[in-house]
Amino acid sequence: MKKLEGKVAIVTGAARGIGAAIAKELASSGADVAICDLKAEWCDETVKALEALGVKSRGYGVNVAVSADVDACVKAVIADFGKIDILVNNAGITKDGLLVKMSDEAWDAVLDVNLKGTFLFTRAVAMPMMKNKAADGTQLGGSIINIASVVGIMGNAGQANYTASKGGVIALTKTTAKELGKRNVRCNAVAPGFIQSKMTDVLPDDVKKAYMDTIPLRRFGTVDDIAKAVCWLAGDDSAYVTGQVISVNGGMIG
Ligand code: NAI
Repeated sequence: MKKLEGKVAIVTGAARGIGAAIAKELASSGADVAICDLKAEWCDETVKALEALGVKSRGYGVNVAVSADVDACVKAVIADFGKIDILVNNAGITKDGLLVKMSDEAWDAVLDVNLKGTFLFTRAVAMPMMKNKAADGTQLGGSIINIASVVGIMGNAGQANYTASKGGVIALTKTTAKELGKRNVRCNAVAPGFIQSKMTDVLPDDVKKAYMDTIPLRRFGTVDDIAKAVCWLAGDDSAYVTGQVISVNGGMIG
């Protein structure tokens, strides 16, 4: 039996990039996966890839920053899949700029998606996860994994909004773990370093080289490096791990 067989997962921002890789990794371990992104049709490719792995999957159009969207999405997932065991808060955006020139709009947009979105989905799944019980009454709970960032720990010039949002995600992770632990709902964060993806492809070569010089493993991370860490946190191999930040950054910072 695969490690996540019988489990139901939600992955936000899973139409592409790190989210799509996480969804595939969870499915490879046997989980059924609800794919969430801004438009349901953007999820089609990921859904097809998961179905080819033999699990149930379905796409949902949801803006993670909008409370009513998130509540409706969680309701629909429970109607379609019966329960929720795993939530991966992965949807995220950047709107970079120096602090002194940063507009209110750039600040609000990034905080709304990255931090408020993580809060809204966590709040929406908390009760359903706390109600997950085995036939003998054992509290099954669930696992919430928040995608933070190395820069949410160390800061980064030009990313006041993004670093603040990811630092907030880390604090929210620790509070969630403290509040929900008694019902066996765990909450951890994965803090990726520099990962090759659409988000980082746009950076100039000199910036990429400067990052590379700070990475002891001398390579950028792959989406699969992140997906494997998330998959470990999702399942029972990490049953006694909660409130932690797992850095997956090639040794960039300790
Ligand atoms: P990406 O830009 O390739 O994918 C993000 C996905 O989120 C997209 O499919 C997008 O449509 C979706 N999304 C954006 N706003 C949304 C909203 N309001 N509601 C629903 N979905 C929304 O980004 P990537 O690189 O895959 O990043 C995924 C996560 O990993 C993000 O939280 C990011 O901050 C984090 N991260 C990425 C790093 C990297 O090097 N790429 C490094 C550290 C963290």
